[in-house]
Amino acid sequence: MSKSLIVYFSRIGEQYSVGDISEGNTSIIAKMIADKTGGDLFEIKVAHDNYPHGYMALTEYAKSEKQQNARPEIVGSVDNFNDYDAVFIGYPNWWAEMPMPVYTFLDSYDLTDKKVHHFCTHEGSGGVKREGFAIYGHTAQNNRAEAEKQVSQWLKGLGF
Ligand SMILES: Cc1cc2nc3c(=O)[nH]c(=O)nc-3n(C[C@H](O)[C@H](O)[C@H](O)COP(=O)(O)O)c2cc1C
Repeated sequence: MSKSLIVYFSRIGEQYSVGDISEGNTSIIAKMIADKTGGDLFEIKVAHDNYPHGYMALTEYAKSEKQQNARPEIVGSVDNFNDYDAVFIGYPNWWAEMPMPVYTFLDSYDLTDKKVHHFCTHEGSGGVKREGFAIYGHTAQNNRAEAEKQVSQWLKGLGF
């Protein structure tokens, strides 16, 4: 039987266009995917969480992490990684790219034999294109019915 893993990075706190949120936009989508595929969730969390709460400060912090091509240490690991044949990888668009902790994750696991599906939340400015699913963060946050619809459509197209 096919087994899916949903790996994601997401932040709470002050975010663009949605204010101070207690659940991250990407996290909302990750949980919808887990729900609809019956997959398992793995949240990428950094070992030393110095990400600022405020949006502007966070953007500056993230910019410097990107410029340094950093690989922030992440906590925990995926149990039985070999058992999964599909791996969903979700993240917010940060400066037109994936947040650096997602790179740490990708450096740590061998995805060669997996079906990899990217999903991304953003606020419309675009970025590096990867095949997958993209949705506005504010839609995930404030219009769950619409987000559910888009997620279902995408998953259906993938054969789920
Ligand atoms: C550091 C940082 C950089 C961002 N850069 C972009 C960007 O380049 N393009 C864009 O459309 N949105 C950008 N955003 C907006 C986020 O992608 C968007 O708010 C996302 O839904 C946040 O997801 P999260 O709540 O899961 O962390 C940025 C947000 C942050 C915090």
